[in-house]
Amino acid sequence: MRHLMSPLDFGVDELDKLLDLANDIEANPEKYAHSCDGKKLATCFYEPSTRTRLSFEAAMLNLGGSVLGFHSADSSSAAKGESVSDTIRVISCYADICAMRHPKEGAALVASQKSTIPVINAGDGGHQHPTQTLTDLLTIRSLKGRLDNITIGLCGDLKFGRTVHSLINAMIRYENVRFVLISPEELRIPDYVRDDVLKANGVDFKEVEKLEDAMAELDVLYMTRVQRERFFNEEDYVRLKDFYVLTKEKMELAKEDMLVLHPLPRVNEISVEVDDDPRACYFKQAQYGVYVRMALILTLLGLAE
Ligand code: NCD
Repeated sequence: MRHLMSPLDFGVDELDKLLDLANDIEANPEKYAHSCDGKKLATCFYEPSTRTRLSFEAAMLNLGGSVLGFHSADSSSAAKGESVSDTIRVISCYADICAMRHPKEGAALVASQKSTIPVINAGDGGHQHPTQTLTDLLTIRSLKGRLDNITIGLCGDLKFGRTVHSLINAMIRYENVRFVLISPEELRIPDYVRDDVLKANGVDFKEVEKLEDAMAELDVLYMTRVQRERFFNEEDYVRLKDFYVLTKEKMELAKEDMLVLHPLPRVNEISVEVDDDPRACYFKQAQYGVYVRMALILTLLGLAE
């Protein structure tokens, strides 16, 4: 049985197959409409979510399966003090596969150790968010035609942003990928990513504070929200929350074919006036998230071939 905890759980070739499957699902959705007839997906969300939970549910429904679950810790037995390990043992009796989001780093991993069904990490604290990364890879590969030879700018909350940590881990496996890490001093990438992932693998990267200084060289700009819920005090959040705002003027500095991605939800970091720019791909990205989760469910349930 297979779980998904980190984007590295799939080798590059396996990942290619998964993304090919997602593209086939996009092109021929009717082919897959009954692939999961009779199967159930449990979504166990201890932290708020719109896209991740609903895209998982949409994915399973598109495959002909059904869904059950809870969408906050308060509405589950966690409120009574039940451990994640006990909850997953019970969920294993009710469902065939589980997507779990939790505010604590490592929670999904703990669950997977006691589970008798595949567990998917749908975000664990500030740590990893592998299905967002699958979404990001599918978006970049589909719209750019490649995952290598890319300069990608990651902008915003690089400290607490789990989507960024997962994406870096996944992208360093492709040839000639360069990173421009754009953040205020306080929200720089954690040492364990800079040293143990980027430097340890000899990856080309630089850290800058001004978005304007990086714009012209980017093939992909990945914007992120300042992660309010992970700050220790409100004052720091308020000071940093509007540090970056991507505007039409700043877009003028970018390449004609640069992609703007954002895992969403957006707060103020992309001005709504940018939404009409053909390079703004964050809503398309949300659509790709459904296809890739369909491909993932099929793969983990052993139904992909
Ligand atoms: C991200 C997350 O939950 O980490 N959202 C998502 O899953 N699409 C990004 C965020 O919350 O800022």
